[in-house]
Amino acid sequence: MTVQIDRDRNYSTLSLVSPIPPPEDIRLDRAIRLGVMASGSGTNFEALAQAIDNRELNAQIPVLIYNNPEAKVKEKAKKWNVPAILLDHRIYKRREDLDRVIIEVFQQNQVEWIVMAGWMRIITSVLLDAFPNRVINIHPSLLPSFKGVRAIEQALESKVKITGCTVHLASLEVDSGPIIMQAAVPILPNDTPETLHARIQIQEHKIFPIAIALAAKQFGFQ
Ligand code: GAR
Repeated sequence: MTVQIDRDRNYSTLSLVSPIPPPEDIRLDRAIRLGVMASGSGTNFEALAQAIDNRELNAQIPVLIYNNPEAKVKEKAKKWNVPAILLDHRIYKRREDLDRVIIEVFQQNQVEWIVMAGWMRIITSVLLDAFPNRVINIHPSLLPSFKGVRAIEQALESKVKITGCTVHLASLEVDSGPIIMQAAVPILPNDTPETLHARIQIQEHKIFPIAIALAAKQFGFQ
């Protein structure tokens, strides 16, 4: 039996998010200090800044680290008055050398949690040991599926019908570690990597601030 898909029809979509905790379970007693790292356009950084501004997330971002001189995130940091520091990975011989400088910057800024908001570099045990259980990552797939780069293309190529995004505590293995929150995003018949990524990002922006508060409550000193 062949299944006909009418490509001109408007598909209605469902999305499913990990249970959203009641507000009292994610209300933080004091503003936690987030050190954000980003490599690209910075829409997740901006979603966090907006959630802080809206008082949905009790936090401060004392500093942003970015690694690509042209990354749009630096303009977003300027807009939100967050000091942005360029640490270009190309000038460091070893990943550990970059991580040591990251630690220095974050410690100077009394950062408590590291948030990888589209950080496209592999981190090492040097960074994880300095911030044990304090490094949070967001990834555009329903982990453990589609780890690594090209997560969205991998999902499209695999022909799954549902993908999504995951916020998790980072561990040494790329895109692994305890999962904090996930949101599902249906794949539509005509999706391209761009259209699918845009819908995944809508969900990323919703779950990221909630997941950070949840992590601070569950794994932190709140
Ligand atoms: C996000 O979709 C994030 O999930 C992904 O990079 C994008 C950054 O977008 N991260 C990874 O792929 C990490 N493996 P943004 O710069 O607009 O926030």
